[in-house]
Amino acid sequence: MSLIEQVKQGRLPRHIAIIMDGNGRWAQMQGQERTFGHSQGVTPVREVIEGSAELGISYLTLYAFSTENWSRPRKEIDALMSLLVSTLNTELSTMVENNIRLRLIGDLERFSPDIYRDLMEGVHRTAGNSGLTVQIALSYSGRWDIMQAVRHIAGQVRDGALSPAELTEDLFARHLATAGVPDPELLIRTSGEVRISNFLLWQCAYTELYFTPTLWPDFRRDDLYRAILDYQHRERRFGKTSAQVQQNF
Ligand code: IPE
Ligand code: IPE
Ligand code: MG
Repeated sequence: MSLIEQVKQGRLPRHIAIIMDGNGRWAQMQGQERTFGHSQGVTPVREVIEGSAELGISYLTLYAFSTENWSRPRKEIDALMSLLVSTLNTELSTMVENNIRLRLIGDLERFSPDIYRDLMEGVHRTAGNSGLTVQIALSYSGRWDIMQAVRHIAGQVRDGALSPAELTEDLFARHLATAGVPDPELLIRTSGEVRISNFLLWQCAYTELYFTPTLWPDFRRDDLYRAILDYQHRERRFGKTSAQVQQNF
């Protein structure tokens, strides 16, 4: 049986998040500049979007640029930004055709007005789509997200619109950049690094983590299917015992 057929027989995650890592090492292994690795990272982005859409996954979150990545060399940041904008521009019509909704999470105010405008055009043009939601995390970090939520909530408390006793986990989550999107069931990280790197900290509280040594530019649909198959063989206990889970307590 093919990998996709196997995947279709098991329970599917509603939301998959991916830390797309290893572009620089991939390029350096071929004796190329790091930025070549970033441009070769576009193919796997297309593959995971198409693969997720075909499976009927509802949400795919891609970590494209972290808050910490602002400390990379200016030249690399600029190359990444222009790649981002040109990729979005060329992919936009395909996204519209395939009913894909683009969402951006992160501190977008840090981008130049030109880039911000280009990014938001993609969001607006796909806003009415009802298929797969692709969330791109840009200038994002989990601590930034938690802090901006805290600031917002603190303002409401100061203004008397909210009392501290009313603050629940659900209400807090509605102030995060991912508001309205369920927590990811599966988080994939490529390139062999075994860390979260300040990604969706609150949202990944009970997420299944999958690490693969494959470098991002080499990642293909079958690698996505393998990650989902691995997830399907795990027992998600949420603090309960295995016996409880099996008896559906
Ligand atoms: C991931 O690849 C892409 C971004 C962080 C923007 P890297 O650029 O981190 O590649 P490595 O980890 O240095 O190989
Ligand atoms: C994490 O990758 C961020 C993205 C993939 C966008 P990094 O390569 O920046 O992570 P660290 O710094 O090695 O943990
Ligand atoms: Mg890296």
